[in-house]
Amino acid sequence: MVGNRRIAVFGAGYIGLVTGACFAKLGHEVVVRDIQEERIEVLRGGGVPIHEDGLAELIAENADRLTFTLDAEEAVRGADVVYVCVDTPPTASGDADLSRIWKVIESLRNAQHLAAVVVKSTVPVGTGARIRAALDSAGLQAVGYAANPEFTAEGRAVHDFLHPDRVVIGTDDPDTAKLVAQLHDGVDGPIAQMDVASAEMVKLAANALLATKISFTNEIATICEATGADVEQVVHAVGLDHRLGPHFMRAGVGYGGSCFPKDSRALRALAGNSGYAFQLLTSVIEVNDLQPRRAIQRLKDELGGFQGRTVALLGIAFKAGTDDVREAPSTIIASRLQVEGASVRCWDPLVRPLDEAPWSSATRCLTPLEAMVGADAAIIVTEWPQLRDLAWEQAAAAMAHPLVFDGRNVLDPQQMGALGFTYMSVGRRTVRGSA
Ligand code: UDX
Repeated sequence: MVGNRRIAVFGAGYIGLVTGACFAKLGHEVVVRDIQEERIEVLRGGGVPIHEDGLAELIAENADRLTFTLDAEEAVRGADVVYVCVDTPPTASGDADLSRIWKVIESLRNAQHLAAVVVKSTVPVGTGARIRAALDSAGLQAVGYAANPEFTAEGRAVHDFLHPDRVVIGTDDPDTAKLVAQLHDGVDGPIAQMDVASAEMVKLAANALLATKISFTNEIATICEATGADVEQVVHAVGLDHRLGPHFMRAGVGYGGSCFPKDSRALRALAGNSGYAFQLLTSVIEVNDLQPRRAIQRLKDELGGFQGRTVALLGIAFKAGTDDVREAPSTIIASRLQVEGASVRCWDPLVRPLDEAPWSSATRCLTPLEAMVGADAAIIVTEWPQLRDLAWEQAAAAMAHPLVFDGRNVLDPQQMGALGFTYMSVGRRTVRGSA
């Protein structure tokens, strides 16, 4: 049958909710299942438990084709396709923990009517083959299997789902390939069809290469600092080469989020498990681990130590446009500052108040200016547009010392110098204000 299908999406996180809402928009009947009661209650009440641009509107507009449940059997009943969007956190050995995926597969025992199971969660290469075997031994030989990794970036996930650079469909079965492609009718992007293992590898390879670009740029930035070159000018001109392109070459305090750190470590573990040391990727990870620590050391040298100092930390989210703090460099920065004896005053426009360390011992402020009152230094950790547009002359007057470390290179060094700031950034010369 061509046309609209019934899809059960397992996992109401960033990926599952966006996938469910977008499939509903494309005309499919979608039920989203999660194990967290609170989450399902909020969704049933018309709320959205996460911040993602356009998601609340999409869910509201397609409410008649979108339901939410805690009950796995109810979700699977009547579904043509099961989409697996549960998380796969790292285990103690650095492998991906697939237990949530196996739970979903177990709940399909009586689902002979299903046309296909599709996994969107990021998994080690070889997982699809194991799932295929598990389906077969559960008597579900007629149920197709496909890997359909997601490449959406947080903050623009709805847009990325509907207008992707590519839709990767990995399956060994032509009917399933056709079905998954049809589910995406209306999506504006090319389909790349391949075998299951290759599709699993595309996701890990793409994220590792993006992370490599960022760490490479950060290393160039460090050399720029030592030699007097300006990383922004270097990257601009390097990026004009069409073979390289300008993307993912922004120097800063490092990448964070739910994907790059986890996926690069997972790919390194996957290589290591087969006895291969992925040295390039190991360096990429090390460079990223060092970025926030280097920033703190440079600021410490400038201040002559943090003991008894107050530092304004501007931006907690791992990037602008999201409330996500997973693996955010801000957590390491806040923690390092406190260990060194500084009081931290922090601000973020979207991140909800956080109770855990290091945030429990930091003062949360409502505006960037409030965070900077009486501060000996401010450090920009997230590239929030509010910071670019801030009345920095007011900040200069409010701070105990007009010292800014711009960990995302969002401000103009000359302008900051003219306002009297000592302005430090990543891969650019430090400007010492004269005002
Ligand atoms: C990423 C991938 O882009 C996406 O395809 C994949 O599915 C999941 O991981 P996301 O984690 O949402 O998406 O964020 P992204 O915008 O890619 O940024 C990741 C991190 O890299 C952020 O911390 C960002 O600040 C940092 N970054 C990005 C840089 O430091 N420099 C850059 O040039 C680009």
